[in-house]
Amino acid sequence: MPRAPRSSLPQPLFDEPVFAQGRPTPDPTRFKVPHPSDAALYRRIQALLYEDVVGFPRSRAAPDELYRLATALGPHGPEVDADLRAFGRIVFHMVGDIGASTEGKYPGEIRVSDRITQDCRLAPPDDRPQFLFLLGDLVYDFGEARYYYDQFYDPYRNYPAPIFAIPGNHDSFIVPGTPPSETPLVTFQRNFCAPEPVVTPEAGSLHRTAMTQPGVYFALDAPFVRILGLFSNALEDPGVISSQGGEWKAIPDVQLEFLSAQLTRLRDERFEGAVLLATHHPPFAYAPPVGGPGGGGTHASSPAMLAQIDRICAETGVYPHAFLAGHAHNYQRFTRSIDFAKGPITVPFIVCGGGGHDVDPLVQARDGHAGVEPANGTDVSYLDPDPQVAAHGLVIEHHDDRTYGYLRVTADPRTLVLAFHPVGTGAMPAEPFDRVVVDLASHSVRPGGAPTPRSSPGRAGATPRRGDRPARPTRGRSGQR
Ligand SMILES: [Fe+2]
Repeated sequence: MPRAPRSSLPQPLFDEPVFAQGRPTPDPTRFKVPHPSDAALYRRIQALLYEDVVGFPRSRAAPDELYRLATALGPHGPEVDADLRAFGRIVFHMVGDIGASTEGKYPGEIRVSDRITQDCRLAPPDDRPQFLFLLGDLVYDFGEARYYYDQFYDPYRNYPAPIFAIPGNHDSFIVPGTPPSETPLVTFQRNFCAPEPVVTPEAGSLHRTAMTQPGVYFALDAPFVRILGLFSNALEDPGVISSQGGEWKAIPDVQLEFLSAQLTRLRDERFEGAVLLATHHPPFAYAPPVGGPGGGGTHASSPAMLAQIDRICAETGVYPHAFLAGHAHNYQRFTRSIDFAKGPITVPFIVCGGGGHDVDPLVQARDGHAGVEPANGTDVSYLDPDPQVAAHGLVIEHHDDRTYGYLRVTADPRTLVLAFHPVGTGAMPAEPFDRVVVDLASHSVRPGGAPTPRSSPGRAGATPRRGDRPARPTRGRSGQR
């Protein structure tokens, strides 16, 4: 009897969310769907990339409502939640800009997805990452449904845990002439904001079910951590989270209401865990001072977006412990010093956009002058000229614009640790390239989380991570059946 087309299969196909193939499957070696160059299209629509924003629907959840990790996990959520609380900490991954827009970029994306997946499979239970949070730009060049399989589902087919995402500009910009039913955010929401954990057409023959986050912006609540994810819209630059007083008429102001409600909730319930704020566009991206040598990278800071966030933080009296972003295809870590509420705090602002699409230099030649990379610890307060909180210093602590890489984040009742792991062609490094520790009680970067000296390119001679043993089978979480 001929098999029914997927669209006619009963959904959900499974009785619980599924996050990976039952057995690890080999790396893809090439795209299933040919992906022609979009260079001509880029040239035609170049100006639109800086002027066309997109609307988006209000989240299914109320502004102050939480989307819990246990909900995403399905029937085994309470069991995993209890395990994590018994371990006394949670570990997870964050990275942006994973999509490979050409087959030539595919090995980069696969190396990162393999390394992240390997981390889950090698780590001992109390150190095993519990989810991946993607910081946007999943599918290039314009979030086409036909490329979701090649650029998302196939590379991450063996990642054995939930994958959440906020959309980036490449997941949302609408190429003129695109039918409303095929606009990128419609596809993104079908695959990440589904009401139920269905298998979507984009997953092809793979088992991963759609994520059930309530919208393109949402508050992910997990043991020891809460992540507020905002959609910073479709422009190449800057990031925009609201209409900005009517300037961007297509953008609703629902995220301002959401952010205010979530920060108020954190305050009122005296949340003691780590609070992260994630946007695709970075509040700070390095560029030399005006008149300095050379120019900045390919993406700039988003000061107006940060100003809106800062004002809401000031109104509610709650400031995140760390800001995470992608968009710039490299790694950058800043520390911002602020006087806030009860006293001085220091906050990491991290860009981690080397997830596979590309690795771009931090600085470029300009007007005949070569770009000069900043030394670690350089004051870059000029990138924060009009702060809406009592900011008094911004320092670029570290950067890596030579290798792909991802963040491994650990939160426990006392600390938040953000560690950048580069992905070269060598073995998995025993230590991260950069690591910052935030003390939650003092809301400050703890001295001693100092950068690890860079080893030789490719980190040759690196040793495998600890726990070189098979992962403990976890029922219902890896789609094993
Ligand atoms: Fe981007």
